[in-house]
Amino acid sequence: MPIITVHPAAVRVVAPPGRTIVESLRLAGWRSRYACRRGGCGTCKAPLLRGRVTYEQPLAESVLTAAERSAGLCLPCRAVPVDDIVIAQGEHSLRPILASSPCPPRPPFPEE
Ligand code: FES
Repeated sequence: MPIITVHPAAVRVVAPPGRTIVESLRLAGWRSRYACRRGGCGTCKAPLLRGRVTYEQPLAESVLTAAERSAGLCLPCRAVPVDDIVIAQGEHSLRPILASSPCPPRPPFPEE
C-alpha cells in the first residue's frame, strides 16, 4: 500500500486501497485542512511534492485548474495515491484527532 508523507510535519501514514489522502490521514488519526470533502471548494488544495495520484471522478476545472495541476497541486479530499507520495501542508494544517472523535485505530507503519 502507498505511503503518504506530509511535510513539514513529517507524518507518515498508509493509504488503504481506494482511499483518498484525507481519508487515509483520518484513518490514521490525523485531521488535515478540508471543508466539503467532495472536491467542490478547493480548501484542501495542496502541493504534491512527489509521487502520483488519481481521481476516481472528474474534477471541476473551477476547483483545480489544469494550470494548477501542471504546477503540482492536488486535491487531497479526492486524490487517491497511486504510489508513495509526499504532500505539503501548512505548518498548522495537520493536527491529531481527539480521542473523543470516532476514529479507527492507527495502522502500523511499514518496515523501512
Ligand atoms: S475539501 Fe473541498 S475540495 Fe477538498
